[in-house]
Amino acid sequence: MSHKEDEFPIDQELEAPLKTVFYPGFDLDIMAMELVSQARLEGNRATITLRPVAAPPEVREQLKKDIAQAVMQATGASDIELQIPEPAPPKEHEGPRPIPGVKWVVPVASGKGGVGKSTLSVNLAMGLKALGLKVGILDLDLYGPSMPLMLGAERAKPAVAGDKISTISAHGLKVMSVGFLVPKEQALIWRGPLVMKAVRQLLHEVDWAPLDVLVLDLPPGTGDVQITMTQEVPVSGAVVVTTPQDVALADAVKGVDMFKSVGAPVLGIVENMSYFMCPDCDSRHEIFGHGSVEPLCAQLGVPFLGEIPLDPEVRRLADEGRPAAAADDEHAQPYLQLAQRVLEVLEQSGQAQAEVG
Ligand SMILES: Nc1ncnc2c1ncn2[C@@H]1O[C@H](COP(=O)(O)OP(=O)(O)OP(=O)(O)O)[C@@H](O)[C@H]1O
Ligand SMILES: [Mg+2]
Repeated sequence: MSHKEDEFPIDQELEAPLKTVFYPGFDLDIMAMELVSQARLEGNRATITLRPVAAPPEVREQLKKDIAQAVMQATGASDIELQIPEPAPPKEHEGPRPIPGVKWVVPVASGKGGVGKSTLSVNLAMGLKALGLKVGILDLDLYGPSMPLMLGAERAKPAVAGDKISTISAHGLKVMSVGFLVPKEQALIWRGPLVMKAVRQLLHEVDWAPLDVLVLDLPPGTGDVQITMTQEVPVSGAVVVTTPQDVALADAVKGVDMFKSVGAPVLGIVENMSYFMCPDCDSRHEIFGHGSVEPLCAQLGVPFLGEIPLDPEVRRLADEGRPAAAADDEHAQPYLQLAQRVLEVLEQSGQAQAEVG
């Protein structure tokens, strides 16, 4: 077909007769309804194709009859070939699909902001790596990505290889963050459909394989990102982070409920900034109170994954792009223990997506 024909898919001689054909039961003709996708007249042969319509058989028959009659009368064509395609069946939502070559997907979530999810995600990932696993971390906080800074990879630019985006390698982890892909000022304007597309691409169009664990650092709350994530990928088990204050606890319950409501398993809750070990007096200060998360876990029927102290060194290292758990000292210890515990729970109950080759 020539370019010209593409631009004018309906031959002029056929326009007028087609305008006289009304869609059965409607006051509109099929041209006004933009129902004709192509109409050609060559000699006494007319070839007409309509756009796909979900019409019952009697309506199709009526349309065929009316079109043939109008075209024959107006043009004298005797050979009329008419096609009315059936619309494609509605695409079922594909549902969560595993990421090939990734065994466990572990989102780190919290109802409340600023409780330490990103810090914990990255240190948990480092802890799991220290246990000998292949680990990736995906920063799904589209609104305020943390991974470029926390991993000291602010200038990293992922390459595109074939149809996949290549991960960045930092501290032995495979890393992807929207922060590598879009300028900071743009991150604030994500809206529903864009969020869905971004989350899907970050999960399914990045070369994650092979991984034992993919840790997902989520934004706070239970918004579009969280919902899309649970629709896009089977969650092996979520880690919910809270601080010991009552307000944070109430939000932790919401976080757990969100995963349960979509049938995604919860690995357990971590109490972050649980206590402060004073380096001067060497005693433990329970600044926000303590001991409320474990009973809450029992009440919710989810495992208590442990507590992480408030440690200024953790914060300092994060700001320098060096995760505390990269070392093997007292600052790393709580995260190494957490990683051990998370791995235990994953092995017992986590839903593996695939064996890693
Ligand atoms: N165990 C900890 N000890 C000391 N500081 C911590 C600890 N965990 C997190 N922080 C500090 O608390 C602040 C908030 O942490 P982080 O950014 O990880 O929270 P978040 O839950 O990811 O926040 P957001 O909801 O904004 O994504 C950071 O400055 C971080 O360094
Ligand atoms: Mg964060």
